[in-house]
Amino acid sequence: MKALVVCDSFFGNTEKIARAVGDAIGDALAAQADLLTLRVGDVRPEHLAGLSLLVVGSPTRAFSASPATKAWLKALAPNSLRGVKVAAFDTRADMNDVNSRTLTAFVKLFGYAAEPIANALTKRGGTLVVPAEGFFIKDKEGPLKDGELERATAWGQQIVAKLKE
Ligand SMILES: Cc1cc2nc3c(=O)[nH]c(=O)nc-3n(C[C@H](O)[C@H](O)[C@H](O)COP(=O)(O)O)c2cc1C
Repeated sequence: MKALVVCDSFFGNTEKIARAVGDAIGDALAAQADLLTLRVGDVRPEHLAGLSLLVVGSPTRAFSASPATKAWLKALAPNSLRGVKVAAFDTRADMNDVNSRTLTAFVKLFGYAAEPIANALTKRGGTLVVPAEGFFIKDKEGPLKDGELERATAWGQQIVAKLKE
C-alpha cells in the first residue's frame, strides 16, 4: 500500500514527529508499505496518485496550520481523497508553560492546527482513522518535550492498527 506523510516545519520539531510517525508506519507495514515522508513543498501530484494513507502534520502558527500547509490543503481538488485513509497532527506550545491568561484564553477559543487539517482532509473525501493529535514542544521553538517522539511512534502504530481493522 502507498502511504505518504506530509509535514511543514520551521525549526525541525514537526519534521522529527513526522519521521517518527512515518518510521512507525513503515515498520508496522514492513514490505507491504511504499512509504514516503515529505515536506509540504516537495509533494508532487504523482505522490498522491494511488494513495491509501495520507498523514498531514504542521506546526501550530497563530492557532492554525502553517501558511504553506493551508495553501497545499486548499489546492487539493474536491473528492481527491475519496478512498484515502487520513490522519492529522500538529506540534504546539504547552499552555502550562505559557504565563499568559490572554493567550491561554485565545487557545481555548481558536485551538490548534490538527483539527482544521483533519477537517480539510475529510472535506476532500478522506476517511479519518484516528483523532487529530497534538505533540508538545518546549518554549516557542522547541525542542520537543520529553516523551513526544515515543508518543508519535505509538500514534503511528495506532494508525496502522486502524488500517487493519
Ligand atoms: C509566529 C509563531 C506563532 C505561533 N503560534 C502558536 C499558537 O498559536 N499556538 C501554539 O500552541 N504554538 C504556537 N507557536 C509555537 C509553534 O507551534 C512551534 O514553534 C512549533 O510547534 C515548532 O514546530 P517546528 O519546529 O516544526 O516549526 C507559534 C510559534 C511562532 C514562531
